[in-house]
Amino acid sequence: MNAHERTFTHPARPTAVITGIGACLPPHVVDNDTVVARGDLRTDDAWIRDRTGIARRRHAGPGTSTGDLAVGAGRAALASAGDHHPEMLLLATSTPDHPCPATAPAVAHRLGLGTIPAFDIAAVCSGFLYALATATALVRSGTCSTILVIAADTYTSIVNPADRETAPIFGDGAGAVLLTAGTTDEPGAVTAVDLGADGSGSDLITVPYGGSRHPHRLPPPEPDARYFHMRGRTVYAHAVRRMTQSAGSVLRQADWGPETVRAFVGHQANQRILDSVGDRLGIAPAHRFGNIGELGNTAAASIPLVLADPAVHQAVAPGERSLLTAFGGGLTWASATLNWPAAVPRSEAPPAGPDTTPLCTPDLSRSHPWTASTTAS
Ligand code: UT7
Repeated sequence: MNAHERTFTHPARPTAVITGIGACLPPHVVDNDTVVARGDLRTDDAWIRDRTGIARRRHAGPGTSTGDLAVGAGRAALASAGDHHPEMLLLATSTPDHPCPATAPAVAHRLGLGTIPAFDIAAVCSGFLYALATATALVRSGTCSTILVIAADTYTSIVNPADRETAPIFGDGAGAVLLTAGTTDEPGAVTAVDLGADGSGSDLITVPYGGSRHPHRLPPPEPDARYFHMRGRTVYAHAVRRMTQSAGSVLRQADWGPETVRAFVGHQANQRILDSVGDRLGIAPAHRFGNIGELGNTAAASIPLVLADPAVHQAVAPGERSLLTAFGGGLTWASATLNWPAAVPRSEAPPAGPDTTPLCTPDLSRSHPWTASTTAS
């Protein structure tokens, strides 16, 4: 550790502090048997549970978009924080409402936030931590004092229901945090961040068709090229390696030993990946938290959905050391150290879209719409 790293956390320094936390999940719970039957997949519930840890997930109906989920999560985070007026909105997503324009301005408009700057961040499953790091830098620089960060994805809009390597894995959802200027000694403070990317692996996680490389005016290179593709086995190895390296790097930057971490939250890609990263870092299973069993891989939303889970807030006290790490398409990876927030999370149902009507009436009135678990339980 060098002198610069030490001054990063000692003494207290200005940083961004999480003062509001929100979640929004579509109401449709889809179990493994249903995913298998819908796609006529050559797999079964036992394989999916054993190889991924996933038992069920939420699917947005055709009437519910990423922007709808983002509005619900953003509204919940603002309510959690009290009456706040963010000066900027960042939306992490790789499943925007439209290829053009970005989804964030429409979300800001629907949240009644006026003409604040709003833009999307496309870092796939690392998107929330990329957005958190960007917002933290803007707060530290004095550019803004309050920023709403939302991460929302509806992978059901791009996954091929007949692809057994992706259809069972992904679920839909959104999480959000409100960041406010504060200091590194407060609960909710972001104390260090680490980001990285390696475009040499850009073909490992991709939607090949519909961008400028293979535009819609030309025929698709393959019949299923409009769908999301992932080379699972190769991605798995990269995910373990990069999340372990990045999390280790941010721990060194914060001058925190892994044994002092009380809440480890990794991107919910696969329970076996999370176990492997946790083991390599030396974090006890009792301090690892996740929701993959109930929600599957919700892409950018997976980490904030764990931050928004009331069950995790019962297990972790405000101010306790927390470690967040993610890996995704790009390839991208990111980590952050965080003092566990004091904010009480709120959940909202997806609102009706501006030009569509949801197919069902959501009921998220229960205080525990999903259940997080530690790997020890
Ligand atoms: O969120 C962004 C980051 N994403 C990730 O980090 C995901 C990383 N990858 C994974 O989680 C896993 O690779 C999968 C869950 C996608 C696949 O599980 P796996 O245990 O790693 O399987 P594998 O890729 O090593 O493939 C083993 C076999 C293959 O068959 P062959 O080639 O050995 O005949 C696959 O075709 O398992 C097959 N397979 C399946 N079999 C039954 C793949 N998916 C399934 C399935 N049911 N659903």
